[in-house]
Amino acid sequence: MTNTSDKDRVVIFDTTLRDGEQSPGATMTHNEKLEIAGLLDDMGVDIIEAGFPIASEGDFNAVSEIAKNSRNSRICGLARAKTGDIDRCWEAIKHAEKNRIHTFIGTSPLHRAIPNLSMDEMADVIHQTVTHARNLCDNVQWSPMDATRTEWDYLCRVIEIAIKAGASTINIPDTVGYTAPMESAELIKKLIETVPGADDVIFATHCHNDLGMATANSLAAVAGGARQIECTINGLGERAGNTALEEVVMALKVRNDIMPWHTGIDTKKIMHISRRVAAVSGFAVQFNKAIVGKNAFAHESGIHQDGMLKNAETFEIMRPADVGLSGTSLPLGKHSGRAALRDKLNTLGFEVGDNQLKDVFVRFKELADRKKEVFDDDIIALMRTGTDDD
Ligand code: KIV
Ligand code: ZN
Repeated sequence: MTNTSDKDRVVIFDTTLRDGEQSPGATMTHNEKLEIAGLLDDMGVDIIEAGFPIASEGDFNAVSEIAKNSRNSRICGLARAKTGDIDRCWEAIKHAEKNRIHTFIGTSPLHRAIPNLSMDEMADVIHQTVTHARNLCDNVQWSPMDATRTEWDYLCRVIEIAIKAGASTINIPDTVGYTAPMESAELIKKLIETVPGADDVIFATHCHNDLGMATANSLAAVAGGARQIECTINGLGERAGNTALEEVVMALKVRNDIMPWHTGIDTKKIMHISRRVAAVSGFAVQFNKAIVGKNAFAHESGIHQDGMLKNAETFEIMRPADVGLSGTSLPLGKHSGRAALRDKLNTLGFEVGDNQLKDVFVRFKELADRKKEVFDDDIIALMRTGTDDD
């Protein structure tokens, strides 16, 4: 049963247009970014991170245009811990009815070494920049970049500073995909128990997929008390990508029995946006990608096809329609059996008796051994050859 109380609502923060676009080679044009933002808004994404306005004139213009055209989603822009970045970000997002400044700084020892700031100096920068953002915008998110490799005491200290300075969302990035599910849950839980003021803010999880654990880590963080998941369509993002929106959303929907949290996403829109993001980013979706891959609802082997024709629940845990697909596909190949061949023949308008099916099946297998996939035209040709021979 779906529990719909507010404490179980997980905010979906989509960063396809910011972290996703940072993936080398995934740059989108101004109009493409606007189109994707419109689709994200339509599907019920709560917050759209539309870009990094200081990064370029083009990104600034795209974020402002997305802000002007937003309908339901809150529009967020990213800014480093610099007043110039924050001002530029505000200029771009201020047109949206609901907006957010997201400001961040790397807090782990490796990241602190880059600007060469001591712990105390960095704490001051965090206080000043979050205060500055909060003076401009009433909705501020703060992120300690590389949080999962930051010393525990220091992490608690800087989060407390950000909360006191006015941040209402604290994001815990696993910037390099280093954490594991047990640790991810425990980290959020302990932060909420330890940091003064933690009960008054939302904790967010932002995972990268370097070890293939981004979805598991995000869901574990929710189990630990996080109520915002940061994610991208198709898991687009730097290196191995970010948490895939479609995976966390469908996991929460399908396994609501053990993960009693819910989102506001209209899952029927998933497939369309997945295809559009693949097209505009130029990043094709791998065939076996969970939820949106070409094979996610396809079955070739005889046993599976026979099961699917009798009861779809035998080999599918989601209905294709729930993600916006018209149906399951049963591609014919060398592993397929008679049941699927008969089904295909019927769909193509051929009624065959048992003997004829036996004959076509032999010739179909010969063909399937030579071809990876047997298409409708191949089957029609097989039937024609059979008829001509008779
Ligand atoms: O991965 C990361 O740490 C980020 C931050 C900017 C939040 O994307
Ligand atoms: Zn990131």
